[in-house]
Formats: sequence, structure tokens, C-alpha cells
Amino acid sequence: MLLAKSISEVRAFHKKNVGTWGLVPTMGALHQGHLSLVARARAENEHVAVSIFVNPTQFAAGSDFEKYPRPLERDLEMLQPFNVDLVFAPTAAEMYPPNFQTYVNVQDLTQPLEGAMRPGHFRGVATVVTKLFNIVQPDRAYFGQKDAQQVAVIRQMVRDLNLPVEIVVGETKREADGLAMSSRNVYLSSEERRAAAVLYRALCAARDAFHNGERGGEKLRAVMRGVLAQEPRATVEYVSAADPATLQELEHIQDRALFSMAVRFGSTRLIDNLLVVA
Ligand code: PAF
Repeated sequence: MLLAKSISEVRAFHKKNVGTWGLVPTMGALHQGHLSLVARARAENEHVAVSIFVNPTQFAAGSDFEKYPRPLERDLEMLQPFNVDLVFAPTAAEMYPPNFQTYVNVQDLTQPLEGAMRPGHFRGVATVVTKLFNIVQPDRAYFGQKDAQQVAVIRQMVRDLNLPVEIVVGETKREADGLAMSSRNVYLSSEERRAAAVLYRALCAARDAFHNGERGGEKLRAVMRGVLAQEPRATVEYVSAADPATLQELEHIQDRALFSMAVRFGSTRLIDNLLVVA
């Protein structure tokens, strides 16, 4: 496993290792969700690259960029069993040299939900993912369904810019109580960690109501809000029942919807979602 810090090392390694490449882009602090994507990339490609880069352009000023966990040694150990060919862990200066001034902006899909709460976030994600695709030149790239809007934005960007990469999406990995695995879960106190299981309970309540015939978007959002309201530590940012393609809120659901939410526990912000299909 080559640990490359520079773009030139990645390019040279790629040139020497012909065949299909799978890329798993990450910000490190790996968990089982990431590892399931790495395992899938390993099964589907001749070569596998994992990028580990806490991307400054997707964090707002004053957010958790500085405190975001960076356990590189532990991450490398976790990757050992997967026979990964390349780990790309650049510095911010390598990715954003002085006078950097080009950004990728996906227009409409970035407006609602996370985009409304985190202005500029998806511009940073789309820019860094484009750069990673250009540097690693993967045939396939692997992302988690937990970041459903990120997946929609990246798929749109790949289509619009004719990027020659297949986007593969892995299901959300969950703890025993349903909490979606996330690198940010380590911020939770033990009381907050217990309380955080309410996100999945709220999503499941809406899913059950949907499967019992409820099709009213507002009714289903109210079901989720009702469950979240039972947890005093939860501060709701948004609750959504949206069209999975456009991410616009639905008043009446035909055959599918993306239920999603962002909820704060103290200073920790968690997101989760469930896709429902009739
Ligand atoms: O999902 C993430 O960890 C990040 O947004 C990504 C895709 C690695 C880009 O920095």
C-alpha cells in the first residue's frame, strides 16, 4: 500500500498500474461505512485507491474543520486487511496551492436541505471530488447513501461535465440502535449518543406510515417531527419528505420519496435519510 502525499506520486503510480481503478474518497476517521465501500471497490476493480483529505473548502468558517478527527495512523491500520493499492493523503497546500481560483458549482440540487443550511458546502465537495477524479482517474468512485444529497450532486456533476467515472453508492451502515455511522459520532457525549438514535426512529415511523398508505408530504414530515419532539436533547434543523431526483419537498407522494433530516445534539450536527419506494 503506497501512502502518497503528492499528486505527482499518484500520477506516477497510476501510470505503472494499468487496469481498472476504484476510488473511495473520504475525510478519514474511518468507520465500518467507509470500510464496506472499500471492500466493494476491492471486489469490483483491479486497483483500489482511498483518499483521506479533510477538505477545507466544504467547511464554513467557524464550523468543525479544526476539530474534525484526523487519526491517520489508525485509518491506515484499518485499511491494511483490504489490500488497498494506494492511499492519497495530501496536504491542503497540495490540493489548494496559492492563487487557486477555480470551483465547480452544481446549480439547483445544491439549494435545498444541506445546501440551505451550509452555504458553499457543496461547491467545496464538487470541487474537491472533481480534483480527486482528475488526480486518481478512477473508473468507479464509491460514496455512501448516508450523504444522499452529496450523491445526487456528484451524479449530476458527472453527467453535466461528462466525467468518465461510474458512481457507486453503498447503503448506510448503522449501529445496533439504528444510528447511522458517521465520523462525527465521536463528538457525542454518552447521553447525546443515546439520544441520537431518535433520528432513525423518526425515519422508520415515517417509512411505516408511508407503507400503511399515507402519501401526504406534510403529514409524513409531521410524523418525523413528532418522534423527534419526544427527545429533549434533539434540536431539529430540518425534516424533509422530498422528490429523490430533484430534492424538492413533496405535497403528495406518488411512488417514492427521500425522507431526510438534520438534527443537532449540543454542538454536534447529525444527518440521516431513508429512501422509500411504494
Ligand atoms: O463524504 C465525504 O467524506 C466528503 O464530502 C468527500 C466526498 C470525501 C469530499 O471531501
